[in-house]
Amino acid sequence: MTAHSKFDPSARILLGPGPSMTHPRVIRALSAPTVGHLDPELLSLYAEEQELLRTVFQTKNEWTFALSGTGTSGMEAALVNLIEPGDEMLVAIHGFFGERLAEIATRVGGQVDRITRPLGEIFTLEEIESALRQKPYKLFAIVHAETSTGAEQLHIKEIADLVHQSGALLLLDTVTSLGNIPLKIDEWDVDAAYSASQKGLGAPSGLAPITIGDRAKSKIENRKSPVASFYLDLKAYANYWMGGHAYHHTASANLHYALTEGLRVIVEEGRENTFARLRSNSETLWRGLENMDLPPFIPLEYRLPPLTTAQVPAGVDPHQVRARLLNEYNIEIAAGFGALKDKVWRIGLMGYSSRKENVTLLLGALRELLK
Ligand SMILES: Cc1ncc(COP(=O)(O)O)c(C=O)c1O
Repeated sequence: MTAHSKFDPSARILLGPGPSMTHPRVIRALSAPTVGHLDPELLSLYAEEQELLRTVFQTKNEWTFALSGTGTSGMEAALVNLIEPGDEMLVAIHGFFGERLAEIATRVGGQVDRITRPLGEIFTLEEIESALRQKPYKLFAIVHAETSTGAEQLHIKEIADLVHQSGALLLLDTVTSLGNIPLKIDEWDVDAAYSASQKGLGAPSGLAPITIGDRAKSKIENRKSPVASFYLDLKAYANYWMGGHAYHHTASANLHYALTEGLRVIVEEGRENTFARLRSNSETLWRGLENMDLPPFIPLEYRLPPLTTAQVPAGVDPHQVRARLLNEYNIEIAAGFGALKDKVWRIGLMGYSSRKENVTLLLGALRELLK
């Protein structure tokens, strides 16, 4: 007789930079029967999923759908479709994910210039304006919510105006902002944005929502060279989702049930109510951290409610505390990135993880462990 091993993962309280906790409604949706990737029932779910994505992205963009893959596939799809080999592009880097944008842009053939801010800071409009004057760039990319530091790049609408005046297109990373903080693709005039299913949307990782505006769509449709990636070719995606529904790849029906359910939850709660819940729970966290002498690292003005970096006190081993939170309390938080590795903890209160009971539990556990 064969022995069957039992895999029984712990029901973790996920308070790191992502994934956040999967909403119970999403878990139920995931377990519905699998249909084929061309089944009319899945295609009609896609129509609903697109409408819900347009609502959360606040856009009317026709090309709004979810790619098979994590947030990085959204990043890579945007870059490989919007850049033709040799195109000049500017990336504004205020953390780890800005650097990833620059690296992928270089790999897909872009001539990439970088401007950078130290970890924990954001760009002023003047800095962006003067960098855009260096060359006639075709594309400018920036991260809205930098998960590596917990900083929100403010003034996206004004940045979009500067980018358009310079003749470039604006690509915005919204992996940690979508569903977690206000984001207005059309009002801010963002040309292309991508996200991920596992942070603000209450679903597991595996899908990357993306939205492409008219200028960006026309750039893609008028490319001189074919898109180097077959898998991430957005024209082929648009045809699978909205056109002749031609087979492109075997998309996971169950992940789409999950993402659609996660989006329904947000729309039913009401986007503004979701943002208010996140802010209020994070404000409770910030007060609690300050009371324990673990002040948030990012100034309030541009501090992200979904991701808080809390400063580790002198003499405390941040990694040991994290390990004890996981082993003794079942709570996941993360270490800092790069130069911040031993200096901060990263605490996520995103999507379904942002609940009062989780804040109380985390603050209580930290108080015990730091006694
Ligand atoms: C801002 C940002 N961009 C991109 C990514 C990459 O997403 P993924 O890990 O889902 O590929 C992440 C992941 O945490 C992120 O926080």
